[in-house]
Amino acid sequence: PIKDIYAREILDSRGNPTIETEVLTEDGTVGCASVPSGASTGRYEAKELRDKEKQDRYCGRGVELAVNHVNDQIAREVIGMNVYDQLEIDRLLVRIDGTEDKSNLGANAILGVSMAAAKAAAKSLDIPLYRYLGGVHTKRMPVPMMNVLNGGRHADNIIDFQEFMLMPVGACCFKEGLRMCTEVYHMLKALLKGRGYHTGVGDEGGFAPDLPDTDSVCKILLEAIETAGYIPGKEIALALDAAASEIYDRDYGKYVFVGESRGREKKVTRSTEELIDYYAELIEKYPIVSIEDGLEESDFSGWELMTARLGLQTQLVGDDLFVTNSKRLAKGIDCNAANAVLVKVNQIGTLSEAFDTICLAEENGYRSIISHRSGETADTTIADIAVAFGTGQIKTGAPCRSERVEKYNRLMKIEEEIGMEAEYKNPFMDGK
Ligand code: PGA
Ligand code: ZN
Repeated sequence: PIKDIYAREILDSRGNPTIETEVLTEDGTVGCASVPSGASTGRYEAKELRDKEKQDRYCGRGVELAVNHVNDQIAREVIGMNVYDQLEIDRLLVRIDGTEDKSNLGANAILGVSMAAAKAAAKSLDIPLYRYLGGVHTKRMPVPMMNVLNGGRHADNIIDFQEFMLMPVGACCFKEGLRMCTEVYHMLKALLKGRGYHTGVGDEGGFAPDLPDTDSVCKILLEAIETAGYIPGKEIALALDAAASEIYDRDYGKYVFVGESRGREKKVTRSTEELIDYYAELIEKYPIVSIEDGLEESDFSGWELMTARLGLQTQLVGDDLFVTNSKRLAKGIDCNAANAVLVKVNQIGTLSEAFDTICLAEENGYRSIISHRSGETADTTIADIAVAFGTGQIKTGAPCRSERVEKYNRLMKIEEEIGMEAEYKNPFMDGK
């Protein structure tokens, strides 16, 4: 049984407060977990609770209220529960919050307890977390989607799309895939530097130069891949996260490309149809295998159109669109919107609900990708989750900034532990 629960305020990778939670069991085991936080958060995500009325503390971003919810209300109810009954613990957390979007106790308060309980359970059984959550047959390693170039809300540059990622689809194992992409990352730095661009990094560790448009970003990425000695597309493919909700102008009804506008000295905008055409062009020119949030988060009919046009050849990932919520995913499945779902545990608030979403995706032929947030901590739970649920893909940033690298290092360790049984495959080869 759970003997005690304790939460405290710590800092995340952007210097914003977040929650660290400890769950103590009767046998003396402690599970500790901390909660990440997004910058380009989706409108339909579960709500993280911040101390908005205390503007004099961390500009109103403190999480004292959420911490108190864990230490008072949640602790009172959850202490005494069976730590191995994750589903019951998560259900209880949802019940005591009582709202659809977890705005009462806060998704941050709830998630910390959900993850710390799982970690305490695994530790008290003396098995790694990925085995506890995934079972004895767990063996599939994820292909990283390594975000090497940051734009949008994650950097102060003029790149309109948020993320440009490398996927080592032709690697033989996770460790080699990581090496290949890391070499390209270093090559990219040298190329940028050589051309007089800044090589400072954004929130997820990717470079954040003032490249004028998507074309020039894709070109330099291809050059970096080739110069590092790899075959674009075959060994290393490209993936984008447009984070289109962030560039959508609701009143105007179009996507506004502020950065691109600056270079062209005229306002560059694209309608839904024009943006889909633009993606089609990019896919034609570059080995882009995956586009996330290509359209904004409420436009299910636009997504349906995009999926009909591009979905056969390209992975179309709903992040802000689905927000790891099985109800929103079900709506997408109903109208054939997207063909993959991004899974961020803090978008929904409990491990069990994230697992439900992954199952629903699987049953309907949608892929799942486990993901970090742009605000992270040293917590590596998502590495274990990616292996446990065998989703085959993970987004966890560049090979830079410890809060990102920690997850990659954890994955290398897991691959070593699984040993000969470990499986690594191109997620686009067998349709999954
Ligand atoms: P966020 O961005 O964590 O800032 O929301 C990540 C993403 O959009 O994938
Ligand atoms: Zn995204």
